[in-house]
This record gives sequence, C-alpha cells and structure tokens, in this order.
Amino acid sequence: MILDIINKKRIGKALTYQEMDEIFNGYLEDKVPDYQMSALLMAICINGMTDQEIFDLTRIFIESGDVLDFSDIPGIKVDKHSTGGIGDKTTLVIVPIVAACGGCVVKMSGRGLGYTGGTIDKLESIPGYRVDLSDDEILRQVHKIGLVVTGQTSDLVPMDKAIYALRDVTSTVSSIPLIASSIMSKKIASGADKIIIDIKVGNGALIQTKADAKKLSELMIKIGEFYDREVRTIISDMNTPLGKTIGNSLEVLEAIDVLRGVEKNNSFVDLCVELATNMVSMSLGIPMKEANKKVLESIQNQSAYHKFEEMVKAQKGDLSKIKVSNHTMFIKSPVKGTIEKINALEFGKLSLRLGAGKENIDDKIDYTVGIKLNKLVGDKVKKGDILATIYYKKKVPEISFDNIYKIS
Ligand code: URA
Repeated sequence: MILDIINKKRIGKALTYQEMDEIFNGYLEDKVPDYQMSALLMAICINGMTDQEIFDLTRIFIESGDVLDFSDIPGIKVDKHSTGGIGDKTTLVIVPIVAACGGCVVKMSGRGLGYTGGTIDKLESIPGYRVDLSDDEILRQVHKIGLVVTGQTSDLVPMDKAIYALRDVTSTVSSIPLIASSIMSKKIASGADKIIIDIKVGNGALIQTKADAKKLSELMIKIGEFYDREVRTIISDMNTPLGKTIGNSLEVLEAIDVLRGVEKNNSFVDLCVELATNMVSMSLGIPMKEANKKVLESIQNQSAYHKFEEMVKAQKGDLSKIKVSNHTMFIKSPVKGTIEKINALEFGKLSLRLGAGKENIDDKIDYTVGIKLNKLVGDKVKKGDILATIYYKKKVPEISFDNIYKIS
C-alpha cells in the first residue's frame, strides 16, 4: 500500500526496490497523486536515503525512458554536467577543445532553469543552429567531426522530468540523494562512458555549502562505480558570475574569445581548462599533465576554435549573424576602491528580467540582451568607472547597486 510506503520512509526506514518501483512508477502512470508523492519526497528530504536506495532509485529513473547506445562510435565517449550557474557557458568552450584533442563528445544539453541559463538557449542565439538533431544525425555528425551539442530528442528519463517539476514546487529540490539520482540517471541514460561533473557552490547555485557539495560529489562517484562509469567531480564557486558575460549571444561571443585565445588568465578560462583536461585525460586514457598540454595547444593553435566552427556549420548555424542589442547603459562605480563581491544571484535575476531567460513558461527569450562585466572581483576602480554594461531592449529594471556590488 502506498500509505505504508510513505509511512516507512517517514519513520526513517529504508525502502526496497519493489516499494520504490511501486510508488515512483505509480506516480508516472498517474496512479499515485501529487500529494502522496510530495509526502514521500519530503520524507526523503528529511530522512535521507541509504546507498542501496539511491542506486535503486537511479535504476528506476533510468528505466523510465530510452537509454541511448553509442557503442557503434569508436573510442570512449565523455560527457560533462554542471549543476547550473549564472554565466555558465563552459560547455561551449570545452566540447570543441576535447574534440580538437582527439576525444569524442556527444552532449545533450538543456534549457535554462530558474535564474540560470541553459546551453541550448545560448546555442539558439546563433541564427539557424539546430538543437533538435535526430539520433541518426547525432551518430553521423559525431562519426564525422567528433562532437555534437544538441537538445534532448529521445525520451530520456521522463521520471526525472515529472519528479523534478514536483520537487520544484514542494521545496524538495535540495535533497542530495534526489539531486544525485536525478543527474546520474540522465548521464547514464545518455550513453556516456565517463563523466565529469562541475558542482557549483554559492548563492547563485543550488548547493550552498562546500560540505553539501562534497557529499554530492561522493554520492555521484559511488553511483558511477555501481553502474560502471568513471565519474570525476570539480567543486567550483558560484557566488560570483562565471566569466564576463551573462545572456545568450554575449556568452557565445565570450566562449569564442576563450577558444581563440583572446580571453585568457581569468577564473572562467581556468575552470574550462581544468574541465577539458579531465575530459581529455578520461577520453584518451592519458595522464592529466599530458592532457593539459594538449588542451592548451588546442587553444593556441586555434584547432579548438575551428572545431567549434565545424560544429556550428554542421548544425546549420551562422556565426556571422549573431546579434547583441545596440541599446546599452552602464553601471558605474559610486566610489573608489577594490571590488570585493559581485553577487551572482542578483545578476542572474537582472538578466532574467532583461529577457535573457523565461520568467513565465510562455515568455520568448531575447537572445540579444544581457550583461557584460567590465570589471571583475579583485579589480581596483575609481569613482565613475564603468563596472558593467547592460544590453537591453525593453525597459531596464531597477538596479540596487548595494545588492550587487561590494567595493571597499
Ligand atoms: N540538476 C539536475 O539535473 N537535477 C537536480 O535534481 C538538480 C540539478
């Protein structure tokens, strides 16, 4: 009985595979109502799950939909996941780098969630770029050029979609076991052999503390071991926006600058190099030092940028048509000092209100708007210096300087 299952978890006992199968699949088949599923999710949030329960739940998630098989493609397929952040355009940089180094990447990316932008929205700011490749098209492209970044076309892990939507409105998103099964089920179902996960920590991220990030990391590595997938994790800061831009076209242009070696020596570039080095090391089975050398060379000799161009062309995008709004206004420093903080969450909210993301499900994204940071944390500024440029179309929302910046 469903009530007995909920009660068992409420008093802190572990559920069996059969019990979880009954309630989760019952929910997907509309036999279990939202209120009972919500009660179970809250009991999981409060009482946690054993490792065995997490492995079982991950299996129930994976088996709820299609599982992709890329075993026809020679070589080790590596995938990357980020738990999401403001200005996170790492996929656009690292996938071409890994392919330029001889690795093989099939990346199914998602759209924005909350204040965080999605890679698919960013790529759609390149006019013509197709994010709806069929499984056959994906296979052909990856055979030919070694990389694909597309949206999810097959019905992968429908259980996660349903449960995530319910978690979102029942304050049960932050459960570490639920996050781990959600992410790992999608990565395993999308056919990767090896996976790197960038766990973001800070006010602009789902995970707020380093301790929680460590727990999530350990859990995802364990799930990977159980399912015979090598998983590596990186824990990275999300108190400050990533890189210099937030907003779709602006982020694509910044990614291009990194790939061409124009943009270097900042924490965003360092993170991209670290992620790409891990992926190349896993994909080619080589030591990190050797992989790092290849990654840096691929930027210096422009082969990574050429891979990006190849991918955009293969997916029918036209980089020459990418547009940024020509309406700009500036945030200027009211004081002299050093920038101590730039609040990621507040910039995420601002970019959403400018139209770079969706506030309501039916909103249309404006790819041309966003924010460019002219100064970064640690920079010294004078009174009147431009700290950020806002690219807008509609009215610019009210900005509370003190909420966004700390200068002292
Ligand atoms: N990202 C996911 O894919 N799932 C979660 O539960 C949280 C972040």
